[in-house]
Amino acid sequence: IAPSIRERSIVLVGLMGSGKSTIGRRLAQRLKMPFADADDEIEHAAGMTISDIFARFGEAHFRDGERRVIARLLAGRPHVLATGGGAFINDETRALILKDSLCIWLDADISTLVERVGRRSHRPLLKDRDPGEVLRELAAVRNPIYAEAHIRVSSASNPHEHTVRAILEALA
Ligand code: S3P
Repeated sequence: IAPSIRERSIVLVGLMGSGKSTIGRRLAQRLKMPFADADDEIEHAAGMTISDIFARFGEAHFRDGERRVIARLLAGRPHVLATGGGAFINDETRALILKDSLCIWLDADISTLVERVGRRSHRPLLKDRDPGEVLRELAAVRNPIYAEAHIRVSSASNPHEHTVRAILEALA
């Protein structure tokens, strides 16, 4: 891995269930970089869960907080950063990520994503909906946008270690 890789943040984008948080944490360990999870940072900053933010203030408010949290993390020292699935879809947030990081799309097929999010999800977008149906709809809209990421890596193969290795190879 070239030392210059650690000079900017590495941002993981992709749909719910693509493994952003798990893979990001392991990648950070390998690269000896700090790790941050944007969803956790938002919950911490707001003092409430993402479900509560959606329920009480709505998605637009959440997207605004998400953009501010990601801007703050990208302005600090380089991190490996896992984002929530919708972050990169927001035009302003995507522009920030593309400008200030090396960003990687973790791409997986719908059945793998469904398996990983499970039948009961804490995620507000999956609440009371069939996860497969939601993920198919989101993939149709979002995949062309995720494709703007600098690098695309398949995260469909298990275990996640395979994907971590594929990312390290792509960075080498
Ligand atoms: C969202 C994905 C979630 C979380 C929020 C909205 C989305 O993150 O940010 O529920 O719009 O796809 P994960 O991708 O980590 O599940």
